[in-house]
Amino acid sequence: MNDALASYAVKNPVESDHGRVLALLDRFWRGALVTDDAAQLARQSLERALLLPPLFFQHFGDTSTLVEEETTAGQSEIKAFLIAFFSQSRPHEGYIHFVGVTPELRERGVARALYERFFAKCRSQGRTRVRCVTSPTNERSIAFHTKMGFRADGGDIQVGNVTAKRDYDGPGLHRVSFLLDI
Ligand SMILES: CC(C)(COP(=O)(O)OP(=O)(O)OC[C@H]1O[C@@H](n2cnc3c(N)ncnc32)[C@H](O)[C@@H]1OP(=O)(O)O)[C@@H](O)C(=O)NCCC(=O)NCCS
Repeated sequence: MNDALASYAVKNPVESDHGRVLALLDRFWRGALVTDDAAQLARQSLERALLLPPLFFQHFGDTSTLVEEETTAGQSEIKAFLIAFFSQSRPHEGYIHFVGVTPELRERGVARALYERFFAKCRSQGRTRVRCVTSPTNERSIAFHTKMGFRADGGDIQVGNVTAKRDYDGPGLHRVSFLLDI
C-alpha cells in the first residue's frame, strides 16, 4: 500500500456510509469553486449532493474506497474517499466519479494513493484506461489531475485557460473530460 494511507483504515464503502460522506462534501469542496455568490454556492452544494446518490454505495462499493481514522472517542472519521467503478459498456475503461481528501491532509499523496489503488484494480481486470470529469473552475482538481498525468479528451470552450466540453453535464455545465492510459 502507498505510504500515504499507511496509518489509516482503508475499506470499501457500504450503503450506511452514504450519509457520512454526504455530510463531508461542503467542507471538502469549500473553496474548490471560485465564487462568492451565496446563491450559486448553495446551488453547487445541492448539485454535488445529487451527484452522489446511495446507488454508488449500494452497487460500486467494491471499486470505491474510504480512508478512515479512529478518533480518541473510539469513532471512525472519514478522511478521504474515492467513488469509482468499472465501465459496463467499455470493457477496457474504469471511471472515477468523485474524490475528496480532508483539507488538513491535502498534498501528502492521499488522493494519488487512492487513484493508484484503483488503477491497480483496473489493470487486474484488463482495464487500461481511466476517465473522469471535473469542473473547469475547480483549479485544485485540474492541477491534481494534470499532475497525475491525465489529459483533456477534447473540448470546445475555453474557461479561463482551461479547455472544456461545452454543456457536457447539461446547459451551462461545461466540464473537462480527463483521460489517462494506465
Ligand atoms: C483534488 C484533491 C482530491 C487532491 O488530493 P490530494 O490528496 O491533496 O492530492 P495528492 O497529494 O495525492 O497530489 C498528487 C499530486 O498532485 C499535486 N497536487 C495536488 N493538489 C494540487 C494543487 N492544489 N496544486 C498543484 N498540485 C497539486 C501534488 O503536488 C502531487 O504531485 P506529486 O505527486 O508530483 O508530488 C483534493 O485537493 C480535494 O479533495 N479537493 C476537493 C475535492 C475535489 O475538488 N475533488 C476533485 C473533483 S471530483
